[in-house]
Formats: sequence, structure tokens, C-alpha cells
Amino acid sequence: MLKKKNFDTYKKSADYILDKIKTKVEIAIILGTGLENLLDEMEDKIEINYRDVPNFLISTTNNSEGKFIFGKLSGKKVICMTKRFHYYEGYDFDELVMPVYVLKLLGVEKLILTNAAGAVNYNFYPGDICLIRDHINFAGVSPTRGNNLAEFGERFYPIDKLYDEKLRKLAKKSAIKLGFEVKEAVYFFTVGPFFESPSEIRAIRTLGGDLVGMSTITETLTAGHCGIKVLAFSVATNYSSDRIENMDGTEVEDVAREVSPKLKNLILKIIEEIDD
Ligand code: HPA
Repeated sequence: MLKKKNFDTYKKSADYILDKIKTKVEIAIILGTGLENLLDEMEDKIEINYRDVPNFLISTTNNSEGKFIFGKLSGKKVICMTKRFHYYEGYDFDELVMPVYVLKLLGVEKLILTNAAGAVNYNFYPGDICLIRDHINFAGVSPTRGNNLAEFGERFYPIDKLYDEKLRKLAKKSAIKLGFEVKEAVYFFTVGPFFESPSEIRAIRTLGGDLVGMSTITETLTAGHCGIKVLAFSVATNYSSDRIENMDGTEVEDVAREVSPKLKNLILKIIEEIDD
């Protein structure tokens, strides 16, 4: 049977969260691998487990459960999602719209995303903090395929300005104030969960991909549909498979954790300076 997206389903999830946090919230953050330490900085926290939110997706990884954490960062109201949902976990693309549509119904206007990615471009190295300026999705999948929810946006919509230029400028300026530079990157989406073959990596490089990863685009494409501005960071955690001897992914979490204090400070600075 054809699966349908349903506005009331998302509304029910959002109403549950709004009832707990008692306010709308304009800024959301979805945290990627190894970047959870941002949560240590949050004040006046209210935590809501995904499993308690009606209709919400259930995390398939049980090492630490996914939560919404509402609170203040740099004095501003923010809602964080501690775990994201990936296609490789088995969700369908039309299920993966849910978190962002729910965020939209909470009042979110700006979405900050972080992820870990492989460094494909020869000028990118493990440890680099990168700003996604565009992506390539050649996986043949689309989160907004299927029935269009007009409450959120138009059937057909542009994605040429998906990664908000103003927010990227702010991010670059904030990084310089903190004494480092961020590289702008084109993120190439792969479905995973396997890492790429060397020949795939060479093709990705030829096509213009700087980084490769298995997340984020479902969220950005959904944000584009419902008019949320996106600022997306990748931490390059490893060389792509044609640049190293053993591509086993073991360094991904370690490198993300090593870099996370720097990225945390950058995100705090950006939130401090972001327009209301
Ligand atoms: N490929 C795909 N996804 C990733 C990688 C990679 O090399 N590193 C971290 N996430």
C-alpha cells in the first residue's frame, strides 16, 4: 500500500513537546556522531525521550537513547536532538521527514546540523571543520516524494539555496573570531552503511564531492521544503578509502570527539550572534 505522510501525525508529536517546553523555539540543532558535548553547555534543560513522543521514530541504536533537549545556549532558546535517524538503519526516506516537520511545528526557523564525513577532496584532512555549501544526492531517493503536505510547502521546490548563505557567512566570521578557518564543502550523500569503494570515491571526486557521508540530506531537503534555514557542519573524520591503507572507520568517532570542543565553541558563538 502507498504510504502517506500525515500532517496530524506530526502535529501530535509537536503538541506533546510544546506541552512540555511551554514555548515555541526558533533554533534547533541535530547532533552527529561524537558531537554530543554541546549539551554540557545547555542551561535550564528539559529532556524528552523520543520514545515518549507520540508517533515519533524509535532509535535503532540502543547504546544511548535519543532525546530532545530543550534549554538555553548562549542565552537563547534552543532545542537539540541528540540522535539523528539514518537511511542505513532501515527507515524509509518518507519516514525521515518526520523530525524536521516536527521541528517546524515547534516554531523552528533555523536548523544547525553536524555530522562526521570522509575527506574526498585532496585539500581536506581529518580534523577539518567544514561548512556544507551544497550537496550531491545521486542515491535516487527523495524524502519529500509522495503526497505533498501543503501545510509545509509546495509540491515542487528549489534547493539552490538550501544551505543559507547568511548563516554560512556568520559561521565563517565566528570561526575567524575564534582563531580558525572553516572550509566550505560539497557533501556527497551515500546510503551506506558500507564505506565507499575506491572507484566510487574517485567518481565522487570527479563529480565535485569534497566530503562523503551517510546522513544530513534527508533533513536539509525536508527543511528546504518547509522553509527552515539550514547551517550544516561536517567534521572530516577520516580520509576517503582511496587515500588510506585501511578504511575501517575506526577513527570516525575518535576524531569527531577530538574536534568537538572546537566545533562546540563555534556553534555557541554563532548562536550568540545569530539574528533573532
Ligand atoms: N564515508 C561515509 N560516511 C562517513 C565517512 C566516510 O568515509 N566518514 C564518516 N562518515
